[in-house]
Amino acid sequence: MQIGIPKEIKNNENRVGMTPAGVFELTKNKHVVYVQKEAGFGSGFSDLDYIDAGAIVLDTIEEVYASSDMIVKVKEPIEQEYPLIQSHHVVFTYFHFASSEPLTKAMLKSKAVCIAYETVEDKDGSLPLLTPMSEVAGRMAIQQGAKYLEKPIKGRGVLLGGVPGVPPGRVLVLGAGVVGIQAAKMAAGLGAHVTIMDINMKQLRYVNDVMPSHVVTEFSSEYNIRKRIKDHDLIVGGVLLKGAKAPKLISRDMLKDMRPGTVLVDVAVDQGGCMETTKATTHENPTYIIDDVVHYCVANMPGAVPYTSTLALTNVTLPYVIRLANQGWEKACEKDPTLAKGLNIVNGKIVYEEIAEAFNWSVDAI
Ligand SMILES: NC(=O)c1ccc[n+]([C@@H]2O[C@H](COP(=O)([O-])OP(=O)(O)OC[C@H]3O[C@@H](n4cnc5c(N)ncnc54)[C@H](O)[C@@H]3O)[C@@H](O)[C@H]2O)c1
Repeated sequence: MQIGIPKEIKNNENRVGMTPAGVFELTKNKHVVYVQKEAGFGSGFSDLDYIDAGAIVLDTIEEVYASSDMIVKVKEPIEQEYPLIQSHHVVFTYFHFASSEPLTKAMLKSKAVCIAYETVEDKDGSLPLLTPMSEVAGRMAIQQGAKYLEKPIKGRGVLLGGVPGVPPGRVLVLGAGVVGIQAAKMAAGLGAHVTIMDINMKQLRYVNDVMPSHVVTEFSSEYNIRKRIKDHDLIVGGVLLKGAKAPKLISRDMLKDMRPGTVLVDVAVDQGGCMETTKATTHENPTYIIDDVVHYCVANMPGAVPYTSTLALTNVTLPYVIRLANQGWEKACEKDPTLAKGLNIVNGKIVYEEIAEAFNWSVDAI
């Protein structure tokens, strides 16, 4: 198979869909890998590294798409990339369709096969291709939140860890999944007081068992959230309803109950956000302020730490890429129900119900 690795063009996205190690494995399996010039620069890989591993480096993104049957990338295609995707392509990447109607319509129109990393799902309900990026984003949420709590960047002016004689900052984490647990762990490590909420008691029990006593679990409800936002300095949104839009747990009217300079980090922004006032931002301009509350809503947080993120992502995607290349998408998905869950759009049809639901479309009508 001919496999294409384009350079990511989303704002400040420095990850790449495959490392030279991945190219080496695929060429060993007799596949041809086309890598766009400088695709790996941001993650620390030179064109020569890819060539040494067996890749053919092409100058332009157009050449990569035109030469390949399967495209392996990181972020959802942006508008400039829509026309490059054609009916003969299998595109394996993050799509987050539920949060973008234009992208969904463009991919339906392309008639390509779209396999979304974020909905590849193991038997136990875990999301193996989302997990490493959620681990990165969860840890980063505290790093970023701590920074934006500083006064010169309009935060409350609170040091999360406090100092002897001064109590630590308070962090509220919504969702005790991968993002939430990593965020809680980092905040606790800094010495902050942490409240973590979920509706899944199994998750709360686990957190309660493994975290230190300054991480407190609480059942997630509007009543409890309204109570906690009044005295927490940093609020991290890490909830997920698989493949669907995130539930809005922080409403616009709640902002007035928060103290000026409170920081919201809505990690769930890529699924539409779990806060009513969330709108996606970029690493170039990551924050905005509404009612004196700082919002950080970067949809590709791991893109800022590409050295870590590219390795973490490709460690888990490569085995699937190899199977897709060796067996073709139909057979690979037939044999592996985990991978089959990643099928979102096939030849102009939505095959993942929650996407149609997100736009109130009837699946039959598409
Ligand atoms: N912005 C970024 O760069 C970035 C990076 C990685 C992941 N994400 C996003 O972060 C979100 C969380 O990902 P994850 O891997 O932690 O998911 P996860 O499935 O591991 O965890 C989500 C948790 O949310 C909980 N939840 C659902 N409804 C809730 C409610 N009403 N109140 C409280 N908790 C609720 C679930 O029970 C679950 O424990 C996803 O939207 C994911 O796409 C964003």
